[in-house]
Amino acid sequence: MTDVSPDIALIRARLLEWYDRHARSLAWRAPPGTSQRPDPYRVWLSEVMLQQTTTPHATPYFQTFTSRWPTVSDLAAAQDAEVMAAWAGLGYYARARNLLACARAVAGEHGGVFPDTEAGLSALPGVGAYTAAAVAAIAFGRPANVVDGNVERVMARLFAVETPVPQARPELRRLAGLFINDQRPGDWAQALMDLGATVCRPKSPLCGTCPIADYCSGRVTGEPERYPFKTKKADRPQRKGVAWVLFDDQGRVAVETRPERGLLGGMLGLPTSDWTTGEPSQTPPFDAPWREAGTVEHVFTHFSLTLSVRTAIAAGREGARWMRTGEARAALPTVFAKALDRATAAID
Ligand code: ADE
Repeated sequence: MTDVSPDIALIRARLLEWYDRHARSLAWRAPPGTSQRPDPYRVWLSEVMLQQTTTPHATPYFQTFTSRWPTVSDLAAAQDAEVMAAWAGLGYYARARNLLACARAVAGEHGGVFPDTEAGLSALPGVGAYTAAAVAAIAFGRPANVVDGNVERVMARLFAVETPVPQARPELRRLAGLFINDQRPGDWAQALMDLGATVCRPKSPLCGTCPIADYCSGRVTGEPERYPFKTKKADRPQRKGVAWVLFDDQGRVAVETRPERGLLGGMLGLPTSDWTTGEPSQTPPFDAPWREAGTVEHVFTHFSLTLSVRTAIAAGREGARWMRTGEARAALPTVFAKALDRATAAID
């Protein structure tokens, strides 16, 4: 770290002033600087959706969820399969299951009212430290230290932290904590997030428009984009599999529900082989005039997958569960939606 001693109060004031003028207008937000508190249900839902997802990608999902299930009690009463289908395309499907578990705990054990402290929120099923802090600050005005990837990057640059992540995480959290007080905690958290998303971007930061550039040690180095330093990650292993996309002659496709445990657990799926670093099984789940439909690629957190797509048209197969193709397309996780699209293109 360089020995610039930044003035915490000045940085806070500059960034909040900037947020008053430049806050992104997002569906779950209260306008900056108002005493109006946003609905905790909407804040919680948005924060769960926004983990690992950008705001433009999450926004239509947020709108669908809040119009179908306007309150946490409505969501708690939904069928699991409906919620999993509505989540399709957002990824990280364990989050959808946790979402339901949490909604049911709030509805069943808290009378449909979210706890209003970080500790109370943390005790809910599936609510991690980040979500508890974000909801406490944004929905309840609690002085919680809300640290996501954006906040880590801003802190790493502001203080030119040279320890790489993940080792630097506790230090970045400590630095973020220096700015926390009970003045506008929700706006402060979101100001840092907006700065990270729109100005202090991972690549090509826009230091010329940054309201706190004068205080930034990373900028003084001339290469702020190098922060946060990273330890080199091992390459993702490459796995292979075969997807079997069977259509009937009435616009339907054969689907299955994936086992509760494991990757994409409980989601709708297409029949596939195992996904392996070796050679996947080539045995089809149904007897049909299969033909090659090319391959699709998908990147998961811990591996990359190449799926060879085989497709056929055949009516009335024993054991097949049929679903209208359009309905299946909407409910399938992205990896299977890609395979379905590939098969559809090959059949047409
Ligand atoms: N990313 C995660 N939560 C966010 C929020 N409340 N505003 C903007 N970006 C976010």
